[in-house]
Amino acid sequence: MPGVLDGKVAVIAGGGFGMMRRTALLYAQEGARVVVGDIDVSRAEAVAAEIGPALAEAIHVDVRDEEGVRSMVDRAFTRFGRFDTAVNGVGSRGLGSIQDCSVSRWQRVIDSHLTGAFICVKYESARLIKQAEGGSIINISSLNGVQAGEGNAAYCAAKAGIIMLSKVAALELGPHGIRVNSIAPGIIRTENLAPVFSGRPEVEEAFIASTPLGRVGETIDVAQLALFLASDGSSWITGQTHHIDGGATLKKYPSNLEAFAP
Ligand SMILES: NC(=O)c1ccc[n+]([C@@H]2O[C@H](COP(=O)([O-])OP(=O)(O)OC[C@H]3O[C@@H](n4cnc5c(N)ncnc54)[C@H](O)[C@@H]3O)[C@@H](O)[C@H]2O)c1
Repeated sequence: MPGVLDGKVAVIAGGGFGMMRRTALLYAQEGARVVVGDIDVSRAEAVAAEIGPALAEAIHVDVRDEEGVRSMVDRAFTRFGRFDTAVNGVGSRGLGSIQDCSVSRWQRVIDSHLTGAFICVKYESARLIKQAEGGSIINISSLNGVQAGEGNAAYCAAKAGIIMLSKVAALELGPHGIRVNSIAPGIIRTENLAPVFSGRPEVEEAFIASTPLGRVGETIDVAQLALFLASDGSSWITGQTHHIDGGATLKKYPSNLEAFAP
């Protein structure tokens, strides 16, 4: 059966783990060839091996580094001959109330999420403009990009910034046929968050109580939305923030920050 991404080449930044790993696997299942970039290259290599060497390539990247991001995007061309779509979804946590959050912690979170997304969009779009066949760029924001969370100022600010970065990019890149959207997930059961839930049913229950659809999200939920936004089926959608949270934006998530402490 034909896949919805047949013939397309994707770059996935942060693809070694969690929802981006699941997205890389789904993209490949739907016919894409995939470059998996991650600061932890062993994670990227494991995902590429799971997909298979004919369809996937792993690369070390730190999205805060312009040269590294440029190389990641170039790799799509050198290895697979074209580049069509990217998902930018690296992870980094940095909790602390404004009084407790050092400037260096603030800067680390802003750099990984917001500056990293800016650098990715800059070099991904440069390649897409050069190819002159349009394209789709997806940035991973968060429910926290629109809903304030106590003790999470840096992350909330970075994720709000990603929403606006995506809108400005959509305006600037629309004339080139390049679509830019953001995905704003609610809580997703990722490897990274497994310790938050493990042995503490009350944490999951508190999130479920704040979610009209009555469950936390799974990585496949986000992967399926990213698949749609990468595909030609979403060819008239750009500049939008796609909430995927079981309706949690309609309520208010609990503040149980101690559960998230590293
Ligand atoms: N898990 C959730 O509940 C949730 C909810 C909303 C939004 N998000 C966002 O979704 C995205 C993915 O989250 P996740 O929990 O699936 O993944 P994650 O936090 O486990 O991180 C994904 C990958 O990013 C890599 N990474 C970290 N810093 C990097 C850098 N500077 N350059 C390159 N790679 C880097 C990590 O090595 C990791 O393999 C993140 O942006 C996160 O903020 C997560």
